Amino acid sequence: MTEIPEHLLKRSKERRGAAGETPGTAVATTTPTTPAAAGAAVEPAGKAVRTESAAPVGPPPAQPDSPVVAAYKARKKIPVWAMLTLSILPVWAFMYVRALQPETVVATGPLGEGATVYNQCASCHGGSGEGGVGYSFQAGSVIATFPHIEDQLRWVKFGSEAYVAAGVTIAGDPNRAGGAHIAGATGVMPAAAAALGLSDVEILAVVCHERFDLAGVAHEGTEYDTWCSPTSAIFLALEAGTATFANVHEQFEGVLQIGEAPLAGASANG
Ligand code: HEC
Repeated sequence: MTEIPEHLLKRSKERRGAAGETPGTAVATTTPTTPAAAGAAVEPAGKAVRTESAAPVGPPPAQPDSPVVAAYKARKKIPVWAMLTLSILPVWAFMYVRALQPETVVATGPLGEGATVYNQCASCHGGSGEGGVGYSFQAGSVIATFPHIEDQLRWVKFGSEAYVAAGVTIAGDPNRAGGAHIAGATGVMPAAAAALGLSDVEILAVVCHERFDLAGVAHEGTEYDTWCSPTSAIFLALEAGTATFANVHEQFEGVLQIGEAPLAGASANG
């Protein structure tokens, strides 16, 4: 059992003495006015003493407003309709600034669009074209396979199985430095058109991305200007639907036939 130290008992007694309270006086100050209150007042005397000992604190008398507060209260208030109108201003400003910015899709051209389409190829060829299930494109490797962009466009559009089925055994350059790539030798390259649902302009875009971004060819020269620059006439014609892979060689000078079925590829000078 813990003993209460003597000095604490003493202090407690002194406090009660100073308050001059007894259970009797407490009851006197809390004269119940209603039967309910009377019921509530039936409490152990000790408890009543404690609750009644705090002097009742009424609301403090109202202070007169300071000049600042008075001026604030007397100010002209903004009407509700104006508040509503003003609250829409930031939204309007945001939309206005957005409307001033040029359409980014047009500006990015084949390389910008191709980087997005490439998400459908990355699982097999690697996020940076470093290779995986499919060949690497890096360090000019894909340029060695397809010295002519038309041969790569055709290969990607129809895929390895169509080449094997058509009896076209080599993908691209038969005299490829480091050895020709034999169709179907390392696995199945899905047909970008039939299997992945890509359009001709999307295939051009992704092939531009593979050659000029992933294989690391400088963004200049005849092939870049003709096929892959943002102002490429062929890209714009494919996008507008005025040309297709089937007829682009008839519409533009110096373009090899892509055609509508697998064809053997050519060497750099062939
Ligand atoms: C399911 C895996 C897979 C996907 C997805 C895929 N490829 Fe391929 N790709 C391959 C394989 C496997 C080969 C090699 C096929 C062979 O041996 O004939 C290949 C070969 C290629 C080649 C020839 C490279 C060379 O140097 O011989 C190109 C170009 C190519 N793919 C482009 C693409 C593009 C563009 C896409 C996306 C639109 C794509 N691939 C999506 C698996 C894939």
